[in-house]
Amino acid sequence: MVTAEQAPLRHVAFIMDGNGRWAKKRGMPREYGHRFGVKAFQDILSHCDRLGLEAVTFYAFSTENWKRPKKEVDAIMKLMDRYLAECEKKIDEYRFRICFLGDKAAFDEKRRSRMERLEQHTLDRQRILNIALNYGGRDELVHAFRQLSEAGLKQITESDIAGALYTAASPELDLIIRTGGDLRISNFLLWQAAYAELYFTDVLWPDFGKEQLDAAIAEFYTRKRRFGGV
Ligand code: IPE
Ligand code: IPE
Ligand code: MG
Repeated sequence: MVTAEQAPLRHVAFIMDGNGRWAKKRGMPREYGHRFGVKAFQDILSHCDRLGLEAVTFYAFSTENWKRPKKEVDAIMKLMDRYLAECEKKIDEYRFRICFLGDKAAFDEKRRSRMERLEQHTLDRQRILNIALNYGGRDELVHAFRQLSEAGLKQITESDIAGALYTAASPELDLIIRTGGDLRISNFLLWQAAYAELYFTDVLWPDFGKEQLDAAIAEFYTRKRRFGGV
């Protein structure tokens, strides 16, 4: 229900957490959970498309996730490569402008150029899909400040910073949804989260479906956003 005082939801971000525990509950290795995590991501993305959201952001791999065992990191990268290859094949029917949030320098030439091609080829689409890969909120801020300092800016404004973030093309963030039951941000969208509504659910990411997203959105519309006012 959209109330008169509540502006419509434009930008939702997801912390897709709980794949490993989901697999463990089934007596399977963590990688198995990531496979089903990709499936949930695809279903949620389609639902976001139907809902007409202007921008959606998914936290796929953090700057800290490199600490995980190599076997798991390799499995996640393989799933990512497979997904990106599929996107590339269907690029003409792809509905979103793809933006990768994070430093691509961590990736090899092949993966990096595929990421760049996807960004370039979807530039004309109106709605945005941000995929946060090798993303950290602190790393993003360092990257932005370096960029502004190299450009020789002295009187730095909030809009200079916002414009130097990986999310520069996206509208303001309205809602962050974290699955998996933990009540923290884990270095995600630190700047952008300033006035975002936070929604936490115990549901593990592979079990998060469109009904759960609808429930989160319904809850969003019950919140009174004051932005510091009364
Ligand atoms: C989130 O699920 C996916 C990534 C961080 C890549 P986890 O792998 O963190 O799953 P849990 O939190 O250990 O269950
Ligand atoms: C956050 O989940 C990162 C992603 C979902 C990609 P983590 O599982 O890495 O977060 P922590 O370690 O529980 O804070
Ligand atoms: Mg986790």
